[in-house]
Amino acid sequence: MRLFLDTANIEQIRHGVRLGVVSGITTNPSIISREGKVDYQSLVKEICSIVPGPVSTEVLSQDAQGMIAEAREIAKWAENITVKIPASLDGIEATSVLAKENIKVNLTLCFSLNQAILGATAGATFVSPFVGRLDDIGEDGMKVVADIAQYLCYYQLPTQVIAASIRHPQHCLAAARAGAHIATVPYKVLLQMIQHPLTDIGIKRFTEDWEKVMGAKSIDPGKL
Ligand code: G3P
Repeated sequence: MRLFLDTANIEQIRHGVRLGVVSGITTNPSIISREGKVDYQSLVKEICSIVPGPVSTEVLSQDAQGMIAEAREIAKWAENITVKIPASLDGIEATSVLAKENIKVNLTLCFSLNQAILGATAGATFVSPFVGRLDDIGEDGMKVVADIAQYLCYYQLPTQVIAASIRHPQHCLAAARAGAHIATVPYKVLLQMIQHPLTDIGIKRFTEDWEKVMGAKSIDPGKL
């Protein structure tokens, strides 16, 4: 399972890329607005120049023609742009048109296998079930991810499922077990994924044992 970062914050993106584990970015209008009143195009172009993979950027129109016009414009901003289109009827129409023009679409606000089936059939590159938001209303978000992953695999379709609206590290584990191609995670969750108290205790004990005998906290590379 690949990891994308669900953020438009440049520092967080730079750190994720530096770690070598982030291969794409997803944004939405709420995420962009968290960065303040920014120049949308400049911010997205900067993100695209930092990240070596797809950068999902959402349209704001709600009718098919508006979405198509916006998507064609956004797609010119960088080579690695993926346009986020909502899983509405107009969104499916827009996805069909854009896919034929080789514009990559991430079908967003996807909450059911039926929506994903329509998105994949229309030619979406990615479909993004929102796990946390389904869990919020008492449904099983990860079951939708698992159903979509199984459906795409069974019919050997090229569309990839992105587990989105990830809220905590347990969601990452479940997404991997459900067969998601990608999980898009908030920066906070990315940092939480590496945490384990036994790792911290182990590092401390190794250092102390070494220091007791060798009298130094680290190895001098020059003396190896
Ligand atoms: O990737 C979708 C995500 O940004 C939505 O997350 O936490 O607002 O449901 P959330």
